[in-house]
Amino acid sequence: MPEATAGAPTTATPTPTGGGGAVLEVRDLVVNYGAVRALHGVSLSVARGEIVTLIGCNGAGKSTTLRTISGLLRPVSGSVRFEGEPLAKVPAHEIVRRGVVQCPEGRGVFANLTVDENLELGAYTRNDDHAADRERALTLFPRLRERLRQNAGTLSGGEQQMLAMARALLARPKLLLLDEPSLGLAPQIVQTIFSIIREINASGTTILLVEQNAHMALTVAHRAYVLEVGRIAMEGPAATLAASDEVRKAYLGIG
Ligand SMILES: Nc1ncnc2c1ncn2[C@@H]1O[C@H](COP(=O)(O)OP(=O)(O)OP(=O)(O)O)[C@@H](O)[C@H]1O
Ligand SMILES: [Mg+2]
Repeated sequence: MPEATAGAPTTATPTPTGGGGAVLEVRDLVVNYGAVRALHGVSLSVARGEIVTLIGCNGAGKSTTLRTISGLLRPVSGSVRFEGEPLAKVPAHEIVRRGVVQCPEGRGVFANLTVDENLELGAYTRNDDHAADRERALTLFPRLRERLRQNAGTLSGGEQQMLAMARALLARPKLLLLDEPSLGLAPQIVQTIFSIIREINASGTTILLVEQNAHMALTVAHRAYVLEVGRIAMEGPAATLAASDEVRKAYLGIG
């Protein structure tokens, strides 16, 4: 059953930036870890071509939301639809194959494999030729090209984040789920990562971006949702949220 979300009206409104209808439609997700409820009825939508951000504090349920979309967790109730198809019974690997690709928090690169081997793993769901995508990823992340034979464990934090994103791109995402790409990175690298996120979007990939860095996320996104202890507390155009007193106080440290 739909649970009310406080604050803003919950509508499946399409994006102000145009494009098709919702490519991702999340409805009333309730997710438990054992006896503990992490999501209390989360609804959100992402239209083709958008960057949508989901911001919130530690423990708000951001990663839980992404893991449920990816099929790694199954909801108690509620639904996830991708390109109109319900994902409830679709295995996680098939969700990846359909184009929903998650770049997990903490990056998840294989430390003992080289950069090149990590990239190859990104293409494992595909049996077509991925040379062009590999080339494109290395053009987006030139630092990786210089380090192809290096073990991923020897990369800096920022480089590991780049590798995780490049690897995700090799799975040819239609919808890229990014879980806190700025975590633990120096401001300059954060700028680089976010400008690459923009480039990835500009070349046609729809993005759902989870961030604690609300400032950067609201700068790059078209629309935003604020998640507070497992509930959507606010939603709207990113610029509108960035200007709201509530968001400025609670998430931008202003006022
Ligand atoms: N495997 C788990 N077992 C039990 N509880 C969990 C598990 N994973 C997450 N939780 C709980 O679910 C809630 C939401 O966690 P989640 O990881 O989704 O938050 P988050 O918004 O991603 O936080 P962060 O910004 O710290 O990554 C938290 O209260 C967390 O303690
Ligand atoms: Mg998280």
